[in-house]
Amino acid sequence: MTRRDALVAAAGLGSAVLLSPTAASSAVRPIPFGSAAQIETFRADPRYRQALATYCDVIVPMNDLKWEAIRHDRALFDFAGADELVGFARSQGKALRGHALLWGEALPPWAREMSTRAEAERELVDHIETVVDRYKGQIETWDVVNEVIKFDPLPGEPMRDTIWQRLLGPAHVEIAFRTAARIDPKARLVLNDFNFEEPGPGTAARRKIALDLCRNLKDKGIPVHGIGMQAHLYADKPLDIDGLQNFMVELGKLDLDVEITELDVIDWKLPADIATRDRAAASLVGTFLDTIVSVRRPRAIVTWGLSDRYSWVHETFPRKDKARARPLPLDADFKPKPMMAVLDRYRRSQS
Ligand code: G3I
Repeated sequence: MTRRDALVAAAGLGSAVLLSPTAASSAVRPIPFGSAAQIETFRADPRYRQALATYCDVIVPMNDLKWEAIRHDRALFDFAGADELVGFARSQGKALRGHALLWGEALPPWAREMSTRAEAERELVDHIETVVDRYKGQIETWDVVNEVIKFDPLPGEPMRDTIWQRLLGPAHVEIAFRTAARIDPKARLVLNDFNFEEPGPGTAARRKIALDLCRNLKDKGIPVHGIGMQAHLYADKPLDIDGLQNFMVELGKLDLDVEITELDVIDWKLPADIATRDRAAASLVGTFLDTIVSVRRPRAIVTWGLSDRYSWVHETFPRKDKARARPLPLDADFKPKPMMAVLDRYRRSQS
């Protein structure tokens, strides 16, 4: 029985075991913590703005740097929402992540209708040149590509079926990274994806593909600095502790950073009791972060929102009992939950 198995057995919490608080807090320097910010909520709810200012070292515009927001009209670039959030972050001395220069979703209709390789390459390069140049020196880290890996990869079929893959093939990844690096050589460039965390051959394959894509970029001399783990964790599923630790070892071999980019907990299969759900979610986040940190210190830990009042999880993963999801570190009244205490161990820890 490994030490981990013994911990798991002793904790009786399934895979979601919380290593001793001192194990985490003595291990790492403070890790920048942050959140995604949704412009509509930012404009409408002063408590939301205050929470971003109070808790975050890092802010990422949740939707306002996506093609859907910037390029709704092919003839222009609409930066209104992004500029507002970037301006807020800068005024508050927060670091910024950009999300995302290339994604197969959240595209305006005209982009979804592109039909030739030349058109796709021209639009992709033009978009990245314009967006990265505008925020050069302000947005220090970019999700250059988001979710380019096939959900359930097949042998010889690693890439997700998107307009970019269809028109450009796997080269869409290189084009995106090469262009971003050319415009802002100081920016940190990240490959962002999800579903790296659970046990199973599909998830292991996704981790391997992410590493292979980054290795391919490095072999061609194209700058890539890290892998973004979205980390939308499922409270009813175990973590692949060994798989995650091996992933961190492999990242180290490639001299790649890890960033936790969209952390939240999908609790739709948990009992309704709030204390039970909050404890399980906090424990899962603690186990996940302890596992990562035990091998490699993340450059940042970013949650996909701060308050349960505003989360994609409630609509996307509706509970049968219609109870509101509790995926984030603050409750719907912006009060800290047990998850925030776990996150505090990383965002405030002193080595
Ligand atoms: O801005 C328009 C508004 O003008 C319009 O009235 C309204 C109704 O149609 O839609 C608004 O756009 C919505 C946008 O969020 C801003 O609220 C889009 O329809 C909606 O699809 C979009 O959803 C976002 C989704 O990504 C797709 O872009 C979610 O808020 C956001 O949480 C989610 O985040 C993704 C990450 O980018 C990638 N990883 C997964 C994660 C969760 O799906």
